[in-house]
Amino acid sequence: MKTTFAFIGVSLAVIFFLALAFRPVNVSGSVKYSEGNPELPDSVMKVFQKACMDCHGQDGSSMAKMHLNISSWNTYDIKKQAGKAFDISKELSKGSMPPGKWRKSNPDNIPTQAEVGLIKNWAKSLNN
Ligand code: HEC
Repeated sequence: MKTTFAFIGVSLAVIFFLALAFRPVNVSGSVKYSEGNPELPDSVMKVFQKACMDCHGQDGSSMAKMHLNISSWNTYDIKKQAGKAFDISKELSKGSMPPGKWRKSNPDNIPTQAEVGLIKNWAKSLNN
């Protein structure tokens, strides 16, 4: 009798820990990839805040946010983050973002060569 109870106890403990180990991380209702959901590094965020979030942030234009909403980055799953990072890198390489008109009125906020390099390295790190 004693051994039966011990066996049940151990089984329950094993099931409990297995459930813990394989539970998907759940953030605001959506299932995330269990390997994590990295936030934007500060250095990357700084560039985005300066040069992108006028349009691609909370108070940006709906056209821009449809493609990329940096304020919602943490709700993107790992795959989507990698894809968006790739798109961002592409736009920066072409020099098509931020758009020309915005560059003219915000000349001091255009990403520098070093900042573009930093963003490209970050994008690469999400896509390897
Ligand atoms: C003046 C507003 C504005 C700023 C500033 C801006 N964007 Fe955009 N962006 C847009 C708009 C509008 C679109 C969607 C229409 C288009 O493709 O031209 C867009 C589209 C994009 C896309 C999707 C492109 C595609 O073809 O799918 C990416 C990626 C992007 N922007 C990245 C950035 C990054 C990175 C920055 C900062 C370095 C930035 N944008 C700054 C307005 C802006």
